[in-house]
Amino acid sequence: MASTIVNAPCTVPSVKGFETQNYVGLRPISSLRFNPGRTSTSRSRPLFVVRACERFDGSVKKAEMSIEECEAAVVAGNAPEAPPVPPKPAAPAGTPVIQSYQLTRRPRRNRKSPALRASFQETSISPANFVYPLFIHEGQEDTPIGAMPGCYRLGWRHGLVEEVAKARDVGVNSIVLFPKVPDALKSPTGDEAYNDNGLVPRTIRLLKDKFPDLVIYTDVALDPYSSDGHDGIVREDGVIMNDETVHQLCKQAVSQARAGADVVSPSDMMDGRVGAIRAALDSEGFHHVSIMSYTAKYASSFYGPFREALDSNPRFGDKKTYQMNPANYREALVEAHEDEAEGADILLVKPGLPYLDIIRLLRNQSPLPIAAYQVSGEYSMIKAGGVLKMIDEERVMMESLMCLRRAGADIILTYFALQAARCLCGEKK
Ligand code: PBG
Repeated sequence: MASTIVNAPCTVPSVKGFETQNYVGLRPISSLRFNPGRTSTSRSRPLFVVRACERFDGSVKKAEMSIEECEAAVVAGNAPEAPPVPPKPAAPAGTPVIQSYQLTRRPRRNRKSPALRASFQETSISPANFVYPLFIHEGQEDTPIGAMPGCYRLGWRHGLVEEVAKARDVGVNSIVLFPKVPDALKSPTGDEAYNDNGLVPRTIRLLKDKFPDLVIYTDVALDPYSSDGHDGIVREDGVIMNDETVHQLCKQAVSQARAGADVVSPSDMMDGRVGAIRAALDSEGFHHVSIMSYTAKYASSFYGPFREALDSNPRFGDKKTYQMNPANYREALVEAHEDEAEGADILLVKPGLPYLDIIRLLRNQSPLPIAAYQVSGEYSMIKAGGVLKMIDEERVMMESLMCLRRAGADIILTYFALQAARCLCGEKK
């Protein structure tokens, strides 16, 4: 008998593990694709089907003996034949012949087969866990980003819309926008950041018009708009002015919310910005707009390729007076307590893989959802290693994402979102 378990009601199915294709009896039906949010009746709802046996022709075989006759035969000692236990597989010549060790625990027992490994897998990953960062610009063409193979500055009206549609097709329905702002619009106070008709608000309105249920995250920081390339306003002596910057960030967040953003994400690391942004949003009636705070954002060299992508390198100095020292662990708790108290909805750790201990720390200390940002440098290193054939790009990609989940991240911001979701759906490029 074949038993089929159809798991229908979820819109974005959870795909357990990254060896899905290898697991006996657990695979998506290939004709079905993740299609959350589409209401079209021509496409079926996403389904997962688990079959207990491969073949089932539907016919019921007619019995030659009744159940009573079969039982009587067994009681009389005439049990029907069943295949013998296979012989013990031979070891190679020269294998030492020894007495087995008396071990009470042999952890390898639970890893013996793909089916057992699937049963005991502790962490799962799904396209619903991904947020896809996308670079946008005013141009109509998509421009490749040299330091990030496979990533583009997308034209906001065409390339971007196509990329979002592709992501949604494989279950990635959350994006975060990063704008490349024309130099002529940059200024020391970054006022373009709250222009209601600027690139980001315009893009949000277009996307919401095309995909009303798309979840749009925005970046709140002045760097793409600052002629100094810093996340805040720079005083004559080089000091980044905290409260004056927060004032600008509040206007930026409100402008993004007005355009339709679902989650505003302050990545600037100024003090007190979460509470101030919450108050500003609420006073304008945006109680429903969430704040994802970059809680523990480190002054990291892993952001290099991103700054090339947006041409947003600081014109002088570094970001060490506001981003955290990579040597610090406890300080993440100071930031987390503050962000929680000020009303953050999600706490983010950045970068990702080199900071797994911080992800775990916040996971253990806070009941809030935790986000991890697998940043540009992490992405580019995996891409480069793959191109040079030093590592298997796809496997390393999936492993790194699974490890971020294992460390405690609920969601992952990753430039691999589309590629990884395609893998999880059993699709290759
Ligand atoms: C700036 C910002 C940065 C990133 C996201 N938002 C760069 C920085 O702080 O200099 C980096 C993302 C990445 O490297 O992928 N507010």
